[in-house]
Amino acid sequence: MAKPDAELPELPGLEVPADLLKPTTPRPARPSEPAPVPASGSEPGRPRSAEAVSTRLYKKFPVPEALAEHGPARVIAMCNQKGGVGKTTTSINLAASLADYGRRVLCVDFDPQGALSAGLGISTHNSITIYDLLIGRVQDPRQAIQQTGFEGLDVIPANIDLSAAEVHLVTEVAREQILASILRKVADDYDVILIDCQPSLGLLTVNALTASHGVMIPLECEYFALRGVALLIETIEKVRSRLNPALELDGILPTMFDGRTLHAREVLDRVYEVFGDKVFDTVIGRTVKFPDASVAGVPIVEFAPTHPAAQAYRQLARELVARGAAA
Ligand SMILES: Nc1ncnc2c1ncn2[C@@H]1O[C@H](COP(=O)(O)OP(=O)(O)O)[C@@H](O)[C@H]1O
Ligand SMILES: [Mg+2]
Repeated sequence: MAKPDAELPELPGLEVPADLLKPTTPRPARPSEPAPVPASGSEPGRPRSAEAVSTRLYKKFPVPEALAEHGPARVIAMCNQKGGVGKTTTSINLAASLADYGRRVLCVDFDPQGALSAGLGISTHNSITIYDLLIGRVQDPRQAIQQTGFEGLDVIPANIDLSAAEVHLVTEVAREQILASILRKVADDYDVILIDCQPSLGLLTVNALTASHGVMIPLECEYFALRGVALLIETIEKVRSRLNPALELDGILPTMFDGRTLHAREVLDRVYEVFGDKVFDTVIGRTVKFPDASVAGVPIVEFAPTHPAAQAYRQLARELVARGAAA
């Protein structure tokens, strides 16, 4: 339960290296494509109030052009070491929305809970999973890839086996680069590869960050949500300096926003203050439809396509393309 607003402590301070706040480098346009849409809007400065927040909420992005050719994929890690912030929900619905726009998308379930696999209706019992690839029991990632019921959307599933992976990998040579070398083998088959990370900053998450071009951080609009972000930013910085200099922060995605509470708006304002244009204009509201859709094993964009949350995720897909973070 949220505390009454009057009792809330000061929001924590947060320092983000300027380098991480630079806009995502747009993917070079292919000759057959029209010029890219300029990145998010032109209004100067940063939104400062709840009013500014709602202006951002209503920003529109164009439906992306169809792609004449596919691949190589841009790899994006969905990352936050806090659980229950919407990583899996975002991976599923962003992936389904991008697939709806004709993109070829591969989702990698990188959490031993297997929630992404389940949420897309994939059974992980007796399946080849990401674990088999990581430990080298299976060499070809295509053997692990499963098609979902949604055109253009494939999955490499995970199950509880993955919880043993860190122990196995610790003694491997180049243990941080194992996922990157797996994904490289199928990158040409996809436009976007989304990695749904587990809630930790351990070796698996470092593998995900090392394999990625960009990282998206879903952030619950809740008072204590900012606490862990400093550590996450530090981890991203370490991976950038030691393992993957090309890694970019694609953006912070505010999730579970409830505009009726003052503290949700205050948290959002603070996030804009710290991260500026790195915060997606799209904000995901809090809704009970998500648990319903999860139980049904389908993305909300398919389960309830006209629901505002489904519209928000389609908007996020359009925004990602407009920002140059996806094909
Ligand atoms: N915008 C939202 N509003 C309400 N519930 C949500 C929302 N997004 C996700 N949920 C629910 O919150 C729980 C945690 O979400 P999930 O995506 O699994 O988070 P994570 O992967 O970060 O642990 C799930 O039960 C999910 O259905
Ligand atoms: Mg999850």
